[in-house]
Amino acid sequence: MTSIAILASGNGSNAEAIARYLAQSPLAQVACILTNRPDAGVRARAERLGIPHYYYSNAEMREASAPLELLGSLGVDLIVLAGYMNLISQPWLEAYPARILNIHPALLPGYGGKGMYGHHVHEAVLANREATSGITIHLVDEHYDHGRYLVQASCPVLPTDTPDTLAGRIHQLEHHHYPRAIAYYIEHELPLLCL
Ligand code: GRF
Repeated sequence: MTSIAILASGNGSNAEAIARYLAQSPLAQVACILTNRPDAGVRARAERLGIPHYYYSNAEMREASAPLELLGSLGVDLIVLAGYMNLISQPWLEAYPARILNIHPALLPGYGGKGMYGHHVHEAVLANREATSGITIHLVDEHYDHGRYLVQASCPVLPTDTPDTLAGRIHQLEHHHYPRAIAYYIEHELPLLCL
């Protein structure tokens, strides 16, 4: 069974959707949740779900040795970013090659890159009067929102949308597709690091 670590900085609704979906699956389980924000809402969700959670400062996450040691001791095979607000540093990429996934709340390559997160994305989509937005699930490399795409899914942008209503529609797409994309990636493309 594949062992997953989720990295999250915020509310954690995707982390919860992934954990709940995989709890019903023989393929994988969420071994732990790591956050770089002491006040992140994801910590309360992890408590409720009974998933161990750990806080590391931004400096510790960037330097990577302490969190990577923890993940090694837990036998983690795959890392899933779910609203994690930092660039992934080189030691992570070397320890988990092609084993770090991210989700972005837009159709990349549009509306991605540094500074394009959260409501900034949805505000830009609305300002450009796009008819469609969506999500991109992709492998992580050394650049923001870059790396091989695994899944893209779209939804309409309505003339009456605000950043909040669009974010709500995007979250629904994310909660449906991200857990399934992770399961698919594990089943079809992921050689296990730890047997
Ligand atoms: C999601 O919209 C995701 O695409 C982006 O950050 C947001 C996290 O939301 N990377 P949540 O914390 O999972 O609710």
